[in-house]
Amino acid sequence: MSDHDAIHTAVREHYGSRARAADPDLNLTAASCCSDSAGDCACGPTLYDATLLEGLPESVTGLSLGCGDPVTIAGLNPGETVLDLGSGGGIDCFLAARQVGPEGRVIGVDMTPEMLARANANKAALDMPNVEFRQGQIEALPVEDNTIDVIMSNCVINLSPDKSAVFAEAFRVLKPGGRLAISDIVTEGEFSPERRAELDRWAECVTGAIDVNAYTGLMRAAGFETITVMDKASAEDIVSIQAGMPRVYSARITALKPA
Ligand SMILES: C[S@@+](CC[C@H](N)C(=O)[O-])C[C@H]1O[C@@H](n2cnc3c(N)ncnc32)[C@H](O)[C@@H]1O
Repeated sequence: MSDHDAIHTAVREHYGSRARAADPDLNLTAASCCSDSAGDCACGPTLYDATLLEGLPESVTGLSLGCGDPVTIAGLNPGETVLDLGSGGGIDCFLAARQVGPEGRVIGVDMTPEMLARANANKAALDMPNVEFRQGQIEALPVEDNTIDVIMSNCVINLSPDKSAVFAEAFRVLKPGGRLAISDIVTEGEFSPERRAELDRWAECVTGAIDVNAYTGLMRAAGFETITVMDKASAEDIVSIQAGMPRVYSARITALKPA
């Protein structure tokens, strides 16, 4: 198994078990955080303005595993087509669907079958026909070229073993002039190779994170322009950070595909 396959497998197993823990038939609730060991985490539904979440059931808000609110960053307009990279239980897709309205469309892509099952159960309960979930990897998106107005992603790109491929794919599927709105974990400095090899930590959104300048460099290399990084908030409340690690942040990152 290649290193990339090993990371995908570790990440899929981690989020498969998070989704199974949120299965109402099992009567368990997933802890609302990327990390199993972050203690009193501030991620999940507390990251959103409470009014945004009104009307969403616990099956959606209880499986919110993000590190920010990319929907608000995206500034969506009615009628837009939106793609969510690593859609999980679907919280950002459902929030986006309300904003783009019946003339708009939202596509969520996720590689973990158990997450897609939870997302589709939530879609049926919410009766949102303009939301669609597709199984796939964000490094090889199951989406046509030049068809998306806005790509959002919440605490997912840090999990990818091939972030260059993620940004190249995002650039390919966005329409000219399309926007990228990301909430993600980034660092100041890099993890050591030994830390990078800790796949359980990688799956918890820690050791797959890269230096913020390297991150924006990959975006620029893919063709993105007008890249902004905002609100580098310490991620200590979101993920489990240990001594000897670089500074770890949750950041809001936006960019444009040139028109
Ligand atoms: C931390 S959770 C975030 C889920 C969702 N964005 C949210 O805010 O609740 C990460 C999600 O990304 C998915 N994921 C991670 N790496 C992926 C990849 N390379 N391709 C597709 N999905 C991926 C996982 O299956 C999981 O559902």
